Amino acid sequence: MGVKKQDIDWGSIGFSYIKTDKRYVSNYKNGAWDEGALIDDDMICISECAGVLQYSQSVFEGQKAYTNVNGEIVIFRPDQNGIRLENSAKRLEIPVFPKERFVEAVKEVVKANESWVPPYGTGASLYIRPYIFATGPVIGVKPSDEYQFRILTTPVGAYFKNGPVPLTIQIADFDRAAPRGTGHIKAGLNYAMSLHAIVEAHKKGFDENLYPDSATRTKVEETGGANIIFIKGNKFVTVKSPSILPSITRKSLEFVAGHYLGMEVEEREIPLTELPEFDEAGLCGTAAVISPVGKIVNGDTEICFPSGMKEMGPKIKKLYSTLIDIQLGRVEAPEGWICRVE
Ligand code: PLP
Ligand code: COI
Repeated sequence: MGVKKQDIDWGSIGFSYIKTDKRYVSNYKNGAWDEGALIDDDMICISECAGVLQYSQSVFEGQKAYTNVNGEIVIFRPDQNGIRLENSAKRLEIPVFPKERFVEAVKEVVKANESWVPPYGTGASLYIRPYIFATGPVIGVKPSDEYQFRILTTPVGAYFKNGPVPLTIQIADFDRAAPRGTGHIKAGLNYAMSLHAIVEAHKKGFDENLYPDSATRTKVEETGGANIIFIKGNKFVTVKSPSILPSITRKSLEFVAGHYLGMEVEEREIPLTELPEFDEAGLCGTAAVISPVGKIVNGDTEICFPSGMKEMGPKIKKLYSTLIDIQLGRVEAPEGWICRVE
């Protein structure tokens, strides 16, 4: 028997922070991570000169826990987030929090917040946000000596406020990631610099920015918070670039497209000039799941996909439902994709 759930209208929550009971914390000092613990306090007290405050030395992850069709709490591919957090940390000279400990900590904090995991069938999930940030003081530009690894959880619904209604996005006026920069890691700094761009995009009525590659501005990269995917006939086409975040959702969808839906999968460079040739498009990620894109605006040019502005196109809909069915235990998952919280 599970615990009694929180009294929340699960179907109507959006994507905003709701404080839950427990968070996981481990501190790094004198060259080692301590054993870690679940705590109640949601406030953090750190030096006014902490590396995270001065030079944005922080990395994070995003994952979800669900209640599946059998009433079990499951987490989608947490090992992959653990690996990516290790890679992000290395790039910012942050000590690695080992992926094995990461997965255990994620399971522990989800279990401790069981009453906040939305029930099956509500469409909501428990968003998990692991992060590491520099707590030690630095004034010269250098890595800190002390860090905190923390995991907070918060129940969420749809990331885009209109749910599965197709989005209108624009080719961004700004750049996101430099060649040989930090676009491929999940660092807070990549999102700080996207805030002005997204506020400006919203003012113009766009839902998101699609960033082109910053070296040539001729190729598709990704949006501020999701990878982009395309359908062309029976092909599932995604972006290959060293400066986009390697989305776990996208990798999973590539597998689903190839192994479950009999589609041809292409991961390659996509010139902006090819956009009008696609039948369907969507944004994919943990938060976005798959959010269909109906229109991409590039300056004076509008690219309207044949799937239209009313609903998801048929192929994206199939990808979406298969992914959700796998996550919720209605379709058998590939080995290792579903991690049960005991
Ligand atoms: N790209 C960016 C910039 C993101 O912030 C995210 C979200 O995590 C993704 C892509 C999707 O990655 P994932 O599917 O691993 O959540
Ligand atoms: C996620 O999808 O988990 C992210 O971190 C993206 C963020 C924009 C919410």
